[in-house]
Amino acid sequence: MVNDAGGAGFKSKIQYESGLFTLRIKMPAKKTNGVITAFYLISDDQDAGVNHDEIDFEFIGTEGRLQTNIFANDRGGREQVFQLSFDPSEDFHTYQILYTPQRIVFFVDNIPIRSFKNNTKRGINFSTKSLWAEASLWISDSVVWAGAVDWGYAPFIVSFQDFNISGCPAGSNCLPSPDFSLWTRPKLGPKQLKLMMNFRKNHMTFDYCRSKGNKHRYPECA
Ligand SMILES: *[C@@H]1O[C@H](CO)[C@@H](O)[C@H](O)[C@H]1NC(C)=O
Ligand SMILES: *[C@@H]1O[C@H](CO)[C@@H](O)[C@H](O)[C@H]1NC(C)=O
Ligand SMILES: *[C@@H]1O[C@H](CO)[C@@H](O)[C@H](O)[C@H]1NC(C)=O
Repeated sequence: MVNDAGGAGFKSKIQYESGLFTLRIKMPAKKTNGVITAFYLISDDQDAGVNHDEIDFEFIGTEGRLQTNIFANDRGGREQVFQLSFDPSEDFHTYQILYTPQRIVFFVDNIPIRSFKNNTKRGINFSTKSLWAEASLWISDSVVWAGAVDWGYAPFIVSFQDFNISGCPAGSNCLPSPDFSLWTRPKLGPKQLKLMMNFRKNHMTFDYCRSKGNKHRYPECA
């Protein structure tokens, strides 16, 4: 989350070192330029400049544009944006973040849309901190990023359902345990991989790895 100028939200009661985090979201009705609906995991230090971990779903403004981002003890900048095929303001849809020592996976309605592997042994940064789960609705102060708010459409109302966490509380070192096999499966299966590849081919509209200079800056893009 960046430079929020105001809003409302909620967070988990405790921090988690890994887990599966689920939330059903119905976006504010159309024309929400400048208004961000977000569901994310975030470390204690909310200074996005340094040593910060964050895993984001962010609806930027309007029209079904969904941005994901990952901060891995750094400044983030790992945006991938997807154009959804449904109108997220018409009904509830299920958004999930899987955070495990092996990988981070984003799911929309059970389809994996992005997977970020723990490849620290190849010098690729990975989120390591215990994280809060949060959801919020807020006004962006970046008009370039999200557009200008048209207050004529206020109030902006988002609906959340079924906030559910199945995870390891901070400091519990509860992994590995067969009790958590649901979300500690180290890999996506072939069916899931195929779903993900198809989804990305048809819906990804921005990939930080394709931005100038990022192939060198981010080793995972090489
Ligand atoms: C990432 O993987 C390495 C093994 O390659 C492991 O030692 C490390 O603990 C993992 N990182 C996290 C945050 O779990
Ligand atoms: C919460 O998530 C876990 C893991 O996905 C699942 O087993 C459980 O049924 C869910 N609970 C609710 C109330 O949805
Ligand atoms: C990886 O993390 C280190 C230390 O936190 C940081 O200095 C570096 O800029 C990060 N790399 C990227 C690509 O952000």
